Amino acid sequence: MTLTPLLRFPKVPLSNGLQIPILGLGTSHHGGFSHDAIVYALTECGVRHIDTAKRYGCEEKLGKAIIESGIPRSDLWVTNKLWPGDYGYKAAKKACLDSCSQMGLHYFDLYLMHWPEPLQSSNCSNREMRTETWRALEELYKEGVCRAIGVSNFQVHHLEELKEDCSVVPHINQVEYHPFQQPKLLMEYCRREGIVFEGYSPLAKNQVLRNPTVLQIAEKYRQTPAQICIRWSIQNRVVTIPKSTKKKRIQENCQVFGFQLEESDMTALGSLHDGRHVSWDSTHVE
Ligand SMILES: NC(=O)c1ccc[n+]([C@@H]2O[C@H](COP(=O)([O-])OP(=O)(O)OC[C@H]3O[C@@H](n4cnc5c(N)ncnc54)[C@H](OP(=O)(O)O)[C@@H]3O)[C@@H](O)[C@H]2O)c1
Repeated sequence: MTLTPLLRFPKVPLSNGLQIPILGLGTSHHGGFSHDAIVYALTECGVRHIDTAKRYGCEEKLGKAIIESGIPRSDLWVTNKLWPGDYGYKAAKKACLDSCSQMGLHYFDLYLMHWPEPLQSSNCSNREMRTETWRALEELYKEGVCRAIGVSNFQVHHLEELKEDCSVVPHINQVEYHPFQQPKLLMEYCRREGIVFEGYSPLAKNQVLRNPTVLQIAEKYRQTPAQICIRWSIQNRVVTIPKSTKKKRIQENCQVFGFQLEESDMTALGSLHDGRHVSWDSTHVE
């Protein structure tokens, strides 16, 4: 079944005027990579936003799937991430250009520092290393290799330091976000500072799909638990990137624009926060 009428997903404006589709497709090093599922997402489900990272090890395969889809490059939003093993000015610039060539792309729509802590040993503090790395991203942005630049897993203190040390405010902060993990203060801070808040692991890597409140709401709206969680995230104006390698699930995860959750159900889902992380937690990274 083709979903052509839904081809245009709503977009969220960034501080530099670009617009990112509010719903994207995640890729991952967990659970494998499906070429056919990516092509299907692009050609049949209206997906125009794909999230990846060097760390996920699928850049080359993803680049091939994008080409096979036949979707013009200018219609796509591609996010990639710089792994902390590549932090530092020179290494960061090289890693970004290498990632572009791995994917067969001339530019990324968004390039993120994946994590606030560098992996290589050096005499620099974390803060100094982040500043050096961000300087490289600022240049890549000015050169047009990255149409927007941002960070991932950054806490308020990391963002405050970056603001003091650098000139371009990150366009996006990509952070874990699902009913069990709602970093409200960070979200408010980002919005106040003009940084778009993007949420990853919207299904809490499956963990939220069996929650009784989610199941009850799913039944009420005759939607699946995954659709309820994705809709809740989007309705909170969060850029949302569920991952699946299965065509049927990708199609399901994209069908979240034909219904709206009532305020009471938004509140019920909002009350499920228990602080757990299903990915990694940067709270204590200096
Ligand atoms: N910046 C970061 O540090 C960071 C960290 C983690 C993730 N991310 C990004 O966020 C994306 C999503 O996060 P995630 O993969 O951790 O978690 P997620 O999207 O919350 O959950 C993915 C899991 O849910 C399953 N699934 C997907 N749709 C489903 C459905 N409709 N019904 C039942 N199960 C379903 C998937 O299995 P199948 O594949 O078998 O369908 C997979 O096991 C990643 O792909 C990545 O792009 C970023």
